[in-house]
Amino acid sequence: MRNPVCIKQLRNSPYDPMCARGLQVPAGRPAKNSVQQVRAQPNWALRTLWRKVPNPFTRHIVSRPMRLILLGPPGAGKGTQAVKLAEKLNVPHISTGDLLRRNVVKKTKLGQQAQRHMVAGTLVPDDLVIEMTAKRLKEKDARKGFILDGFPRTLAQAKALDDLSDIDEVVNLFLDPEDLVKRSTGRAVCPNCEAVYHVLTNPPKRKGVCDKCGSALIQREDDKEEVVRIRIKTYEERTEPLRMYYKERGLLRDVYASGHIEEIYQRILEALRH
Ligand code: AP5
Repeated sequence: MRNPVCIKQLRNSPYDPMCARGLQVPAGRPAKNSVQQVRAQPNWALRTLWRKVPNPFTRHIVSRPMRLILLGPPGAGKGTQAVKLAEKLNVPHISTGDLLRRNVVKKTKLGQQAQRHMVAGTLVPDDLVIEMTAKRLKEKDARKGFILDGFPRTLAQAKALDDLSDIDEVVNLFLDPEDLVKRSTGRAVCPNCEAVYHVLTNPPKRKGVCDKCGSALIQREDDKEEVVRIRIKTYEERTEPLRMYYKERGLLRDVYASGHIEEIYQRILEALRH
């Protein structure tokens, strides 16, 4: 889907503050016609809104900016679902795990500081992760909304996020710990485009080869069983309390993460609808 355009922007001044949270429509036609031409036919925007978002079940979700957190233990499927939701909602998928891994590959100072924690299955210190995420959230594409995957992970991170942005929804994916272990230890990732597969439940078309870019798939260093178990324990101790933090704020949606990827995706959309 192309970038959304606020109806008020089409009709009134381009910087109407109401547009920040206002009604939005997909910006297909303005690419061909000038904004003046579109303003001359105001009903076009409303007609387009209902036509271009065909599913009445999810229409209201995609028609407004969405700042969403995906909570859940390692292997719950946050990354898998975040990719689908980001496409649906037309907002960036911001994974702190991916951002950190890119820093490790590039051997930046942050990457060097983070690596030993990641390999051990423990958390990277709050100050480093908060600074990195704050910088990412200030980028232009995140102004229209975002899906945060893997952040916040501690109370300190959640409080820092409160100062950085409002949050609309928090989806908590939960799953039996032994299923988490099976999912993580069977994961295969593309080191080039970061696509995620599972050797049994979500395999690539050609064994060991990324469907999207053709690179050879690898196993993440922290997906060895002993490290996965430490990550799950770290999650229970440090991140699980955030569930209550967001529940008290009325933002939490618990979603059972067992079943097919598409089934869980539909459960998340259903949870966001209420
Ligand atoms: P990060 O990369 O964020 O790892 P994680 O949170 O542990 O989550 P995972 O990526 O392991 O799992 P996921 O829930 O995204 O599952 P996925 O969709 O891939 O963080 C790594 C490390 O970075 C941390 O340990 C920490 O050191 C550091 N870090 C990151 N953020 C930090 C922060 N904020 N603060 C401090 N440190 C931080 O799915 C898993 C597998 O299951 C895949 O193979 C997938 O194909 C498969 N799968 C998914 N859904 C299904 C399904 N429904 N059925 C069957 N298989 C499925």
